[in-house]
Amino acid sequence: MSLEVRQFDPVAALTERLRAAIVRVAGGGVTEAEALDPRIEANKRPELGDFQCNAAMGLAKRLGKNPREVAQAIVKAADLGDLAEPLTDKDIAGPGFINIRLRTAGVAALLSAFDTPALGVPRPEQAETVVVDLCGVNLAKQMHVGHLRSMIIGDAIARVFERLGWRSVRQNHLGDWGLPIAMVTHRVAEEVQAGRVSLDALTLDDLDRLYKEAQRECAADNRGLATARRWTMGPKAIAELEAQVSGAEAELAEAKGTLLRLQAREPATLRIWQRIADVTLSECLSICERLGVKVSQADTAGESSYAGELGPAVDDLLARGIAETSEGATVIRVEGLDQPCLIRKSDGGFLYATTDLCAIRRRVQKIGASRVIYCVDARQSLHFAQVFAAAVRAGFATRPGAPGPSRLQHAAFGMVLGEDHRPFKTRSGDNVRLADLIREAFERAEAIVRAKNPDLPGDEAHAIARAVAIAAVKWVDLSNDRIKDYVFSFDRMLAFDGDTGPYLLYALVRIRSIFRKAAERGVAFDPRAPFDPAAPAERALALSLLRFPSTLQSVAESLEPHRLCTLLYEVATLFSKFFDACPVLNADDPSTRASRLRLCDLTARVLADGLGALGIPTAERM
Ligand code: ARG
Repeated sequence: MSLEVRQFDPVAALTERLRAAIVRVAGGGVTEAEALDPRIEANKRPELGDFQCNAAMGLAKRLGKNPREVAQAIVKAADLGDLAEPLTDKDIAGPGFINIRLRTAGVAALLSAFDTPALGVPRPEQAETVVVDLCGVNLAKQMHVGHLRSMIIGDAIARVFERLGWRSVRQNHLGDWGLPIAMVTHRVAEEVQAGRVSLDALTLDDLDRLYKEAQRECAADNRGLATARRWTMGPKAIAELEAQVSGAEAELAEAKGTLLRLQAREPATLRIWQRIADVTLSECLSICERLGVKVSQADTAGESSYAGELGPAVDDLLARGIAETSEGATVIRVEGLDQPCLIRKSDGGFLYATTDLCAIRRRVQKIGASRVIYCVDARQSLHFAQVFAAAVRAGFATRPGAPGPSRLQHAAFGMVLGEDHRPFKTRSGDNVRLADLIREAFERAEAIVRAKNPDLPGDEAHAIARAVAIAAVKWVDLSNDRIKDYVFSFDRMLAFDGDTGPYLLYALVRIRSIFRKAAERGVAFDPRAPFDPAAPAERALALSLLRFPSTLQSVAESLEPHRLCTLLYEVATLFSKFFDACPVLNADDPSTRASRLRLCDLTARVLADGLGALGIPTAERM
């Protein structure tokens, strides 16, 4: 084949060839890269061609010429070799769009260049580091669906970067420090002392209850008291409220004492705190493991791990004139934001933002991240905007010797809604426990898998059900636009057809079964058989497969995993159309069969690779 394909990506290959033609047509009159960009896109009217070049109109404007004439000149100057049909004036549409149809030989050559173990994904010369902030659960609180999104999206983003050859470091920014934690620590200490709970047998449910109790006890209902006084509600009501308020104040004072003891690392208090941390983290890690989310103990970097850095950091920022004092508090003003970033309260206490500033410094300067990505719910957008800007101002976001700051990004996500389109809650109005939700997904998946395959051995059915459940739960989360809310529906996500995780697994299983059948019939698979994607369904599938590497890159750039889901779903549906239209094992001649088998193989590898990059396990049969 005379075609020299340095890139398997048709858009890149066409861009390169057409740019040469456009440069010639511009004749030095225009030099900006933007104006010389052929602007190749998938054709808006597929009946006219596979791709279109939209450059003529812009170029004509700059040259002060008629766009159709410029298009004619480009068509004349273009040499697309074996890649596409030669261009003629008939390929010009409207004001100067140029339609391009690839030749079958061109598509075949692109496919062969793409068919490598890396599936066209280039290795970077030097691995860069990305830090992904995910999970971020809080001590003594049950995990709920909000954490599910952070885990799933964070893990998928980390995996996509890994697939692109980056070093990824996951950071579980545990909420394990500060007054609320001291409150529950104090409450647990009281319960242990009274013999009502045993530290060894403590569960997350106990902690969740004690956390809420502590919150309630410490929350002085000052407003209630004021209301009672205003309406002179009677001495009894007022006395009752007064007692509650002073009780709350006493409770709060105790919690503040506990906080001081924690800060001083007093062993008895620390032991209780550690137990609370262990119980919370072990539940979090067990959920991650069940979901196939790669987060381990080693990824824990709780707020407590920054406690010693906060005071010195604030002092340093004041000394360098980055932070300033305002009404007794310490703030960092940031350009473009009305609210400054508060880093120390007037009572000397530090804030969530102070810890996050120190976390950025560690992530960039110690871990060496050139990108730090926060998979946290959209309601924290202002917080991150403030902290990012403050960190950049403080120089915390710049690696030693780097020319500029690393990229700090908030991959914000929307809410999970119930089928009533309200925030997802149990019937009694509580948050849905993540552990319960996952258990239900696994149980439902297992029932479906066993009903479909009554003869499968137990272990295998179990393993398949696990893949189906994980695929179902992750796919809805990832395939929807990250920033949007989505509706959680077991029935919909577990369906085997439509845009669902199980459908994707099923598509892959179908392809794998073609190879089992081939082996049974003694048909050998030739991984070097020439491709011949002559049928329209073959060509459509091929063009979709070729977009795999650029789609992965666009996910890393936009932090939008749904782009990969969209492509994989398209591949799966185009495969299905191809398989309906083009016999594979029963193809008319051996060379067509060999080419089609190779297309099947490539499709299976793209699907498995893409699902892997999203953190979705696959199955051999279903
Ligand atoms: N614990 C926090 C919360 O529940 C989330 C932590 C997100 N990560 C961060 N670096 N702030 O809201």
